Formats: sequence, structure tokens, C-alpha cells
Amino acid sequence: MTDAAVPLTVNGHAHSVRDVPGPERLLDTLRWRLGLKGTKEGCRSGACGACVVLVDGRATLSCLTLTHDVPGAQITTIEVGPEDAAVARVRAAFAQEGALQCGYCTPGFVLTLAGLLHERGRRAAREELLEAAGGNLCRCTGYAAIVRAVERLATEDR
Ligand code: FES
Ligand code: FES
Repeated sequence: MTDAAVPLTVNGHAHSVRDVPGPERLLDTLRWRLGLKGTKEGCRSGACGACVVLVDGRATLSCLTLTHDVPGAQITTIEVGPEDAAVARVRAAFAQEGALQCGYCTPGFVLTLAGLLHERGRRAAREELLEAAGGNLCRCTGYAAIVRAVERLATEDR
């Protein structure tokens, strides 16, 4: 793989990211080249969910995704504005339920749940949402409030 430029659209903004080494992970491209530090680095091995972003609407572990493997993709991170209604809705549910302590895991949870809502046309059952977020870890163990946020998403009017 050459160090060629990679075109990416991130939160609606087009980028041509230059001199990307073949092994570079999308997580690092977002954080260190584009300055989008909302996407968090946890395990770097696919085990914690802190780094989840949406790639063409699907929840994706950015620590296990090579930037060169997603040329032309539409990437959504936690920094996206209200134009992404699913992300906005999950963020609001987390805020309303106080579903964060240090907040480190929160972007990954939000993007994971928003990915399912994208797939389901913004409707999903409690069990589906909990299953989707089953790979996300919260080191503060704030799971009770996160489950309340999920229940709000499953029951609120859309
Ligand atoms: S940093 Fe990607 S799964 Fe943990
Ligand atoms: S709120 Fe601290 S890791 Fe989840």
C-alpha cells in the first residue's frame, strides 16, 4: 500500500487526507490528522467499543479499520451536528438519563446505538439496543443509567 491521499467525508465535510501510511487506523486519522478527539482510544484491539464511529451509517470499530480500506466513505463521529437525527436522539437520551460519569465510553455507546437506529429506520426494541451495545465497556460501570437511556430510546415517541 502506498502513502496515497485518502478521500473521506467526515460529518459532512470532505477531506483528502494525504500521506497516509498503509497500516494507519481510522481512529488515528480522525484523532490526529483531523483533530476529532471525540472518538476515544481504549484497547486498540476491538474489545471495548470506545472507538466506534459510523462508516456509511454502520457502527464500526475505528481501531480495527485501516483508513486505506474506506476511501470515499461517509464517516460520522460524535462531533456531528443535529443533522444526524439518530446520533442527536441518542445523545439526548444519555443526557436526560445522566448516562455518563467520566464520559470516556460515551461516544462509543452513542455511535453504536445510533448505528442500530440508522439500520432500523430509527426504531429499535430495548433488547436489540442492549445487544448492539453489548460490546461496549464502561470502566466507570455506569451501566444502570445507560440501560435507562436505552429504555428511553426504545419507548419514546419518534
Ligand atoms: S479502542 Fe477500539 S474497541 Fe477498544
Ligand atoms: S462513563 Fe467513564 S468509562 Fe463509561
